[in-house]
Amino acid sequence: MSRIISVSNQKGGVGKTTTVINLAASLAAFEKDVLVVDLDPQANATSGMGLPLPSPKNIHALLAGLADFDGSVVETGFEGMSAIPGSRDLAGLEIDLASQKGREFFLRDRLRVPEMDRFDFVLIDCPPSLGLLTINALVAADSVLLPLQSEYYALEGLSHLLDTIRRVRQLWNPAITMEGVLLTMYDRRLKLSREVEADAEDHLSEMLLGTRIPRNVRLSEAPSFGKPVLHYDVESPGARCYLQLAEELISR
Ligand SMILES: Nc1ncnc2c1ncn2[C@@H]1O[C@H](COP(=O)(O)OP(=O)(O)OP(=O)(O)O)[C@@H](O)[C@H]1O
Ligand SMILES: [Mg+2]
Repeated sequence: MSRIISVSNQKGGVGKTTTVINLAASLAAFEKDVLVVDLDPQANATSGMGLPLPSPKNIHALLAGLADFDGSVVETGFEGMSAIPGSRDLAGLEIDLASQKGREFFLRDRLRVPEMDRFDFVLIDCPPSLGLLTINALVAADSVLLPLQSEYYALEGLSHLLDTIRRVRQLWNPAITMEGVLLTMYDRRLKLSREVEADAEDHLSEMLLGTRIPRNVRLSEAPSFGKPVLHYDVESPGARCYLQLAEELISR
């Protein structure tokens, strides 16, 4: 059985894509078979894994019914990591879907096929909005992982997202659970980071994951080489912490 995790936060630039790519590579390092689904029209996860854009096999074709599951999956070249590449056409598809019946279930129905079972983990990279694409990700997922940038007011936007997850649970996906909240771009030396951490510990308690992802320049450099940080600088703090996150999620 695959574990489908939606990596979501409607705030932009909080580390969703960085988490998807590097958690995927880290899970693969623990010999898990991982599928990355790039559900963001920006397609940053796709380019960050070194895949071409546009890509002949892609998520738009799958959602539009032009290809089936196996016809949409590509190998990334990194062992244990496959992907359904993103597509800039997704933005238009989101508008087309809006008027269709069952619009919340498109991704779930196309992902939840027997062929998907060969993957241990499926990680969905969401766009920075709570629109129909993110709703589709939450409906298709078993759980949701929320990256939270370690900056002031970071917690404010979280209540919107938690409300949305509650609504998804009520209306479309009663089984969805919280994988947890992940503090990203954490810098222990900054008072601000420590304040956000204390706030998160108070308000989120067991929802807060133990792993902290540090601000690390290697994490921001790796995508321009089309590589997960593990394949770019295995010794970097970023690589170590994403491995730790993988371990934490596997052991839960
Ligand atoms: N831990 C980190 N340390 C240093 N830089 C980081 C870290 N995490 C992310 N970044 C950088 O911050 C920027 C935003 O990260 P990322 O693209 O992962 O966020 P996102 O939530 O996916 O953004 P969007 O909402 O636009 O999709 C990127 O340039 C990325 O390289
Ligand atoms: Mg992103």
